[in-house]
Amino acid sequence: MSKVKIIVSSNSGFCFGVKRALDIARAALKKKGKVYSLGPIIHNPQVVRGFSERGLKIIKNIKTAVAEDAAILVPSHGIDPKVLKNEKVICIDTTCPLVSRVQRIVKDLRRRGYLIVIVGDKKHPEVKALAGLAGRNAIVLKDRKKAGSFKPGSKKIAVVSQTTASFSTFKEILSEIAKKDFTELISFNTVCRNTIDRQKDAERIAGKVEVMLVIGGRQSANTSRLADTCRRVNRNTYHIETGKDLEKKFYNGKKRIGIATGASTPPSAIKEVVEKINEATT
Ligand code: F3S
Repeated sequence: MSKVKIIVSSNSGFCFGVKRALDIARAALKKKGKVYSLGPIIHNPQVVRGFSERGLKIIKNIKTAVAEDAAILVPSHGIDPKVLKNEKVICIDTTCPLVSRVQRIVKDLRRRGYLIVIVGDKKHPEVKALAGLAGRNAIVLKDRKKAGSFKPGSKKIAVVSQTTASFSTFKEILSEIAKKDFTELISFNTVCRNTIDRQKDAERIAGKVEVMLVIGGRQSANTSRLADTCRRVNRNTYHIETGKDLEKKFYNGKKRIGIATGASTPPSAIKEVVEKINEATT
């Protein structure tokens, strides 16, 4: 019997938005045989590979030569609606309803003339889409330092966040902005519930174990942030993609190992890691 106790976060595996996006993509592929996706449908290379084998073709740009009536899948993190405007394609929208909600909030804030602060990573597709919707009256801030040096230049400020941002970073940025000069400051906690629960539970487990493994795609921003959150309480935190990334130092002589995952990590990846650790320590 393995001497290692492995604690898997109860908030692991696919989130509701990712599950929903994959179900829509599966149904579209079944019906059409070939579907294009604007960027990877989710940030997990193993899952994306499986879909590519079934006919999902990833394109970076809508201008890529696609037939007029091609089926284009909008990923779960959404895109700027302007991208598809005037395109004669069939749009299959897998945008998570919680991402759509932030998009609606941003559109409304723009209409009401707010300077819109988006807490998040400006390179992430969800944030790019939000910034596109917010127009010229928007700024993306990723951390407290950036918030400290930011000069609003407007007295009406509204703050929203990327759905997968760190909740503590969101609060830190908000408190920095509250020190600025303003006549109105409103904020919307648009970090999704699943992200908050995932971060809290991973942090709790990381504080109780010798090694914390965070499983997820290397390009998955929410997995990297989750690993950063865990590393704050446990410096023996490692971001791995699959069981192939396991190293002996992660489990040799260890009694308690924690596991958490990003929102786009399939349950099969967790099973593989747990089995490999058990095999190696039995
Ligand atoms: Fe949606 Fe939250 Fe997942 S915004 S895609 S449920 S991480």
